[in-house]
Amino acid sequence: IPVEPFDLVVFGATGDLARRKILPGLYRRWLAGQIPEGSRLIGAARSAMTPGAFRAFAAQAIDEFVADDKRDAAAEAAFLARLEYVAVDAEGQTGWRELAALMRDGVVRAFYFSVAPALFGSLAERLKQHAIADDASRVVVEKPFGSDLETARALNATLARHFQEAQIYRIDHYLGKETVQNLMAVRFANILFEPLWNAQYVDHVQITVAETVGVAGRASYYDKSGAMRDMVQNHMMQLLCLIAMEPPYHFDPDAVRDEKLKVIRALDPVRAENIVRGQYLPGAGQPGYLEDVENPESQSESFVALQAHISNWRWKGTPFYLRTGKRLRARVSEIAVTFKEPPHSIFDDAQGWRENVLVIRLQPDEGMNLKVMIKEPGPGGMRLVQVPLDMSFAEALGAEGADMPDAYERLIMDVIRGNQTLFMRGDEVEAAWAWTDPVIDLWDGQKPHDYEPGTSGPEEALMLMHRDGRRWREIR
Ligand code: BG6
Repeated sequence: IPVEPFDLVVFGATGDLARRKILPGLYRRWLAGQIPEGSRLIGAARSAMTPGAFRAFAAQAIDEFVADDKRDAAAEAAFLARLEYVAVDAEGQTGWRELAALMRDGVVRAFYFSVAPALFGSLAERLKQHAIADDASRVVVEKPFGSDLETARALNATLARHFQEAQIYRIDHYLGKETVQNLMAVRFANILFEPLWNAQYVDHVQITVAETVGVAGRASYYDKSGAMRDMVQNHMMQLLCLIAMEPPYHFDPDAVRDEKLKVIRALDPVRAENIVRGQYLPGAGQPGYLEDVENPESQSESFVALQAHISNWRWKGTPFYLRTGKRLRARVSEIAVTFKEPPHSIFDDAQGWRENVLVIRLQPDEGMNLKVMIKEPGPGGMRLVQVPLDMSFAEALGAEGADMPDAYERLIMDVIRGNQTLFMRGDEVEAAWAWTDPVIDLWDGQKPHDYEPGTSGPEEALMLMHRDGRRWREIR
């Protein structure tokens, strides 16, 4: 959908997120013809820098983070020419008048707060004070959105002093991933799955987000968070919501977010025996977690596995197993829905029977795999064998599937379109923290289990499923 010309101001424009995601993402949208002529991209940060120097910074970011086949010298020059830069002091008065002078009437104004949350309040205040932002402007904020319920509430209150909820776009970049949105398409655009999508037919659901990277480079942030705050409270919670929610009455921002909120509120508190945490050991020439965070006493987890329960009519009795961790065997994010046994077998010899499983691969190699039973070929009677109906989205969709926009590209364009469907509402974030806080309190003073890098995490996490007669899918 084409957008109207806009002015986008990125605060923290010389920071890491701007360099790795925002600027390269904007360039790719420009190349795709989605940023109309007449739009302007204004970088703002503390450093005194000329617009020329900022353009050079952006050119380098494009060089580093945009694939060669997406480079086009003429388009790049035109894109860079769109960039302005203003040095502003978020907490002082410098630069605000200059920024105000750059603003134009009659175009959408969006402000991306790619800065520490401690600065949200003063940025918002100055935007209002200098009449840079008005009632139609949009603000975009990033995680971490608080570190517990109390801090999240405080951030919501700070933003609410200056902006309406309809103006606030809280990013969870997982919601910008094509395949994550596909969860909704698969569930609600097909009749095949939904009748079976409940505790009567679903034995359990597994959600895995495994990474091979460690935490070096972001140790100070990560050691304060741990995997529960870094991944479960936000990304994994969103995946859980999309898998478990009731069909919204319409694909409309509040209809979708209302249904997600109901799932979070229906989550039972997690019991201590249903959660396992881990820290990676050194191995394969790489330092361990404790060395990476330079804190031999650290009790933060780089891995967490837990069993969650949703107390509502649809899901009562179906466990949801979640796991995520760093330095695991492979980078893979997937959701596996395992169905129950048919109520009665007509085959005397049902040897070889296994459950139907629907696996949705979020990354890499996005796709779907439905495991079904068929007859094993041969004259020897009715023996069953499980085979995959396996589809890679890239193959099925051809060129279109190979060119999926990055999560940030999609989300930034949605801000400009004024579509909040893929952004978290304030009450949703607070509900997620209200569930997360007591889980974190459970392990006060406890050390996580060790695990070898390149594995599926600590042995104890395997037990979490074995004791229920189930097993995790292999991470590979
Ligand atoms: C971030 C977390 O939000 O998501 C990181 O802070 C994590 O720790 C990252 O590595 C994973 O995102 P992706 O898109 O690589 O799966």
